[in-house]
Amino acid sequence: MENTEKKIIYSAVQPSGNLTIGNYAGAIRNWVAMQEEYECFYAIANMHAITVRQDPAELRRRTLEMAALYLACGIDPQKCALYVQSQVPQHAELMWVLNCSTYVGEMQRMTQFKDKSQKHADNINMGLMDYPVLMAADILLYQAHCVPVGVDQKQHVEIARDIAIRFNNRYGETFRVPEPVILKTGAKIMSLQEPTKKMSKSDENVNASIFLCDDRDTVIRKFKRAVTDSDNEVRMAEDKAGISNLISIYSSFTGKSVQDTEREFSGKGYGEFKLAVGEAVADKLAPVQAEQKRLLADKKYLGEVLASGAERAFKAARRTLSKVYRKVGFYQGE
Ligand code: TYM
Repeated sequence: MENTEKKIIYSAVQPSGNLTIGNYAGAIRNWVAMQEEYECFYAIANMHAITVRQDPAELRRRTLEMAALYLACGIDPQKCALYVQSQVPQHAELMWVLNCSTYVGEMQRMTQFKDKSQKHADNINMGLMDYPVLMAADILLYQAHCVPVGVDQKQHVEIARDIAIRFNNRYGETFRVPEPVILKTGAKIMSLQEPTKKMSKSDENVNASIFLCDDRDTVIRKFKRAVTDSDNEVRMAEDKAGISNLISIYSSFTGKSVQDTEREFSGKGYGEFKLAVGEAVADKLAPVQAEQKRLLADKKYLGEVLASGAERAFKAARRTLSKVYRKVGFYQGE
């Protein structure tokens, strides 16, 4: 774990709703693959989650559910630090310092801030605007080399890079400048009902998203209802957003390439293809759901995993924060 030769990976998911197959395909799948080779820090970003209103009891419950889900998807707590963001106080502390090297204008221009401000017009709080700075603090605290994310988070990783470079120029070399890692397929899974829009955990139309907790019948029914086009050819194309999305999903869940998928379903209709996608996803989800349920019944074990993850994260975070405090001239005792 503390092997300094290994490259460092950082990523996180917000416990702000039930995870979708988009989160799985764009992020978690990648995390599992990376833990073999890298030193990984994976967080449940509950501090980010409260930038929109959350029910406290539900937030607490979802945090544990998410930890169990990560483990059920194959995250190995021996290999990586799996922890809850709010349990490592350095995230908030570094954010303050980074706030003082970030401009209000650049935060107001962030796409997600603009989208969320529209969606939650009655709650445009400071946290919503500061969200990318907290995310930069997350990543920079661990001196991460790479940050595996879906396409929607790329802009946030880029601003984290800008903040790191600006800080380094001002105070001397302090942070490693991180690279986003975005998968070729699955990095942007779209809504099943409006395939030009990202699949999201907070979509009001439940048929638009497949949740990792959906049962087999629900998964198959939602895929059957997925919006496609009027021709009947299973082919990736810009003007075939619905079918292209289903091909990406099939490819992410079976490991087959896009070309092999197109070949497999050449001459077959959409009905048959939709059923095959549904079955591939349901087959993958069933064992994950069973394992998550088993883990959730063992709260003591989950608590131990998260405590040990937080302890490992704390040690790494403390090193960076102490360096930052020294650089900016904060008194740290004699
Ligand atoms: P969040 O919780 O919205 O999403 C978690 C991860 O899932 C990816 N994702 C998708 N990928 C493909 N298709 C989709 N439809 C889809 N929807 C979501 C996201 O890109 C993300 O990788 N701010 C982050 C959490 C975060 C974080 C960090 C990430 C906090 N601190 C530090 C990386 C590094 C977020 O809201 O992700």
